[in-house]
Amino acid sequence: LADEDISEDELLADPVEKVLEVGGTRHPAIRLPSELFMPERANSEGLDLEDSAILADISGKVAEMPSVPAGMDSDVASAIANAQSVYPAWSVTPVEQRAACLDRLASLLEQHRAPLMAIAVQEAKKTIPDALAEVREAVDFCRYYAARARHDLAPVELPGPTGERNVLRHEGRGVWAAIAPWNFPLAIFLGQVAAALVAGNTVVAKPAPQTPDIARYAVSLAHQAGIPRGALQLVTGGGDVGAALTGDLRIAGVVFTGSVPTAKAIARNLLADDARPLVPLIAETGGLNAMFVDSTALSEQVVRDVVISGFQSAGQRCSALRLLLLQEEIAEHTIEMLVGAMRELVVGDPANPANDIGPVIDQAAYEKLMAYRAQNAARIIHEVPVPATGHFVPPTLMRLDSLDQLNTEWFGPIVHVATWPAGKLEETIAAVNAKGFGLTMGLHSRIARVSETVETCARVGNLYINRSMIGAVVGSQPFGGEGLSGTGPKAGGPNYLHRFCAERTTSVDT
Ligand code: SER
Repeated sequence: LADEDISEDELLADPVEKVLEVGGTRHPAIRLPSELFMPERANSEGLDLEDSAILADISGKVAEMPSVPAGMDSDVASAIANAQSVYPAWSVTPVEQRAACLDRLASLLEQHRAPLMAIAVQEAKKTIPDALAEVREAVDFCRYYAARARHDLAPVELPGPTGERNVLRHEGRGVWAAIAPWNFPLAIFLGQVAAALVAGNTVVAKPAPQTPDIARYAVSLAHQAGIPRGALQLVTGGGDVGAALTGDLRIAGVVFTGSVPTAKAIARNLLADDARPLVPLIAETGGLNAMFVDSTALSEQVVRDVVISGFQSAGQRCSALRLLLLQEEIAEHTIEMLVGAMRELVVGDPANPANDIGPVIDQAAYEKLMAYRAQNAARIIHEVPVPATGHFVPPTLMRLDSLDQLNTEWFGPIVHVATWPAGKLEETIAAVNAKGFGLTMGLHSRIARVSETVETCARVGNLYINRSMIGAVVGSQPFGGEGLSGTGPKAGGPNYLHRFCAERTTSVDT
């Protein structure tokens, strides 16, 4: 859309909510059907007073690694055998009892917040605010899936037009493999486990090789919460352990978050043996996430949201901003402001609350990102200074001369920037869609029609308008993508649990 197409009325200077009203009813507040489904306290990007107290309390405690429960790990074959032997009893345990275990686990997570945060800082290199958000999201997942299970897994009476009685039941499928990533080693790990368990399955969970200790701690809390040991088994290790797990014919479903190549390898593994039943794969992978900014956007808000979306968590979120697309007219000014904001960022030891951004996860990630930056050094617009030692990748703003220069996800603090000419918004969205990913997209604009255009054209699971594009809130912003970004259903959303279930209908002639 060209600027000339915009009427005076559409260019409102008032808050975003009011501006979006201009277009009629395009953006009503969409709420889940009942307060029941809202977590008691939603994960939030903002820090309130209570959080400040938590941060002050924790900051002295993250230096030492808390002791991690031992004796958690099993080998793949015995873990599956144990989970299989407990399955018949767990699958007929009433939903209420299974849900109560998750509620107790949520309370235990809150009680153990300090050691969990300390492990997240030590093992996953999370900053202290990110470690707090991690624990809160894990709590939210447990409470949300408990509440949904009570509602969604009850038997459903269906119409019997010819006089028969029809009942739809949702039951477990068997032993699930849950394979989690290192970037949300507690929240995603427990989100997968909680959903599979409450749906009536038993679980063999494999954390990422970089983050086994927080998983051990979480599994020990889950057992304390009343989940039978056999119902939740832990295996640790790398790709060979994952392949042995998903390749085992006794596995009845796989829930996975990680890279696209690994998701494809799992899908192939599930089909490799002709004797194997067809089993579901729920995969959440990467994104090539773009944010569009037009000439009506509020520059200060854009800059804040780009910094959060691209650089928080050292860019190690699948939702993170990778490609900033500025309308030509505002590009120079926006980049200038962005560079100014980047000068304020402090990179360093994540255990020090004064630092905004920590290192990337390990040497391999560091080398890959630094090599990419070195190959494209001529296009670097700005980079933030980093400490001389450690896996610190400088938060980087890198110019693209053409969208063809970016086709893969670079999982770190690198934001690419390109421009689009007025009137070419739809074409540019189509070019982003054509990359094949479909996870998150952002838009900054104060014109309702532009929002509508992006909403219509974007092929993504999560579209964020006039805000940052990370930090999906459980129960409010169901998270997950399409295309190369994942299979769905969305984590933290109302359709998630059913995918973990076998749906069985009984029809009785009365
Ligand atoms: N759920 C995370 C976010 O929204 C990404 O995995 O940032």
